[in-house]
Amino acid sequence: MINLEHLRTAAIETLRLNDSGGFTKPSLHLYPHQWNWDSAVIALGLSNFDIAAAQTEIRSLLKGQWRDGMIPQIIFHKNTPNYFPGPEFWQTSNAPNAPQILTSGITQPPILASMVRKIHLRHPMPDFVQEVYPGLLSWHHWLHVDRDADGSGLASLIHPWESGTDDAPRWLSVMEGIKPVNLPLYNRIDNLRVDPGQRPNQADYDHFIYLVDFFRQRRYDSKAILRDSPFLVQDVLFNSILYRADLDLRALAEELGEPTMEIDKWLAKMKQSFQERFWDEERGLYFDYDLRNHHRIEVNSVFTFAPLYANLCSEQQAQRMIAEHWQNPQEYGTGGKLVYPATTLSMSEPAWEPRRYWRGPVWIIINWLLLQGFNQYGYSNLAEDLRQSSLKLISKSGFREYYDPLDGTGCGTTAFSWPAAIALEMIKPEESAAQG
Ligand code: GLC
Repeated sequence: MINLEHLRTAAIETLRLNDSGGFTKPSLHLYPHQWNWDSAVIALGLSNFDIAAAQTEIRSLLKGQWRDGMIPQIIFHKNTPNYFPGPEFWQTSNAPNAPQILTSGITQPPILASMVRKIHLRHPMPDFVQEVYPGLLSWHHWLHVDRDADGSGLASLIHPWESGTDDAPRWLSVMEGIKPVNLPLYNRIDNLRVDPGQRPNQADYDHFIYLVDFFRQRRYDSKAILRDSPFLVQDVLFNSILYRADLDLRALAEELGEPTMEIDKWLAKMKQSFQERFWDEERGLYFDYDLRNHHRIEVNSVFTFAPLYANLCSEQQAQRMIAEHWQNPQEYGTGGKLVYPATTLSMSEPAWEPRRYWRGPVWIIINWLLLQGFNQYGYSNLAEDLRQSSLKLISKSGFREYYDPLDGTGCGTTAFSWPAAIALEMIKPEESAAQG
């Protein structure tokens, strides 16, 4: 039996431990700054016991917003040494659109508007919503306009880090086509803090750094980068999160009496492009799209289920993906070697590894998005199984960055904020099920 009261106390302690006075680190040593989508979910977690801290977390994140609307992936509130790539590598102060505060020069999944709305539905905070709404709107505008590379209304990504799933094998074929020539000298330190077998391979890391160097040479000029970046993709997960967040932003706009026409246009355009671009009728899967080489990236990853979270697929598509893939023990299903869902990559993929970062391990943030999607489509039994097995994993192995789906071993960093914030949500079944 899981002791929920104990879990709740431990989760709050972990968030307090990572509190850096105004923002919460994902973890003390591996991620000692503020990360965009971590922070949004952390704010929701904090709202369970400290609403003022939740608001402060969001305000700190918005301090990093660029003049063109982008909310960056990392905000360097303090010049903490021992992190790479830090502000001296990103050099965003050379970018005309960068804010006063130092940040990285790319973005991350836009889940913030959805978290603001979730908090607001539970603890009405109209003044706060009014305060943050313009920032949220301009970020979404930037995503739909400045990051629309082909008129589809879908946001394009220029770096695997923007997807939040850094070394996911869905990016491998694109990366293989990029030659990291004239790579600047650099020393990564992530693999000194965590078992290197659980971190990205060196070749992937060289590509990550090559791309950052490419962008900083162009002083983060959006237009030039969209035109020239060797990495340019449309991501099923990112765009699902964006669509869901557009719906939430629209609901906030209505409540504030703000116009919704622009958001309605984004939603309509995206809904249509999403199916055409990503759905593969033959395989019954959604695939990401390589915009440089003009084809779908046919890697079977768990993000095929993200459209359920966004309410973007039909009942039939959902049913088919669940029957053919989610419940298939060769891919994502239990009943074979897999004990703890969800593996982030189908076990049938050659790149699958149970303990390497985004190549197979369970990430609690993803389980939480999936279970909301299952609930939304009426698969409450699947959602409940996922909730239970996530809580079991956390109580067995602690608040870890990710977990081995075969035996539940905790991997990556420890005292990780995401699972702590999400545990506070998951211990309340009625909240996990709720969708606005
Ligand atoms: C890793 C993850 C990313 C997360 C960050 C901080 O880079 O891939 O999704 O935001 O760590 O936790």
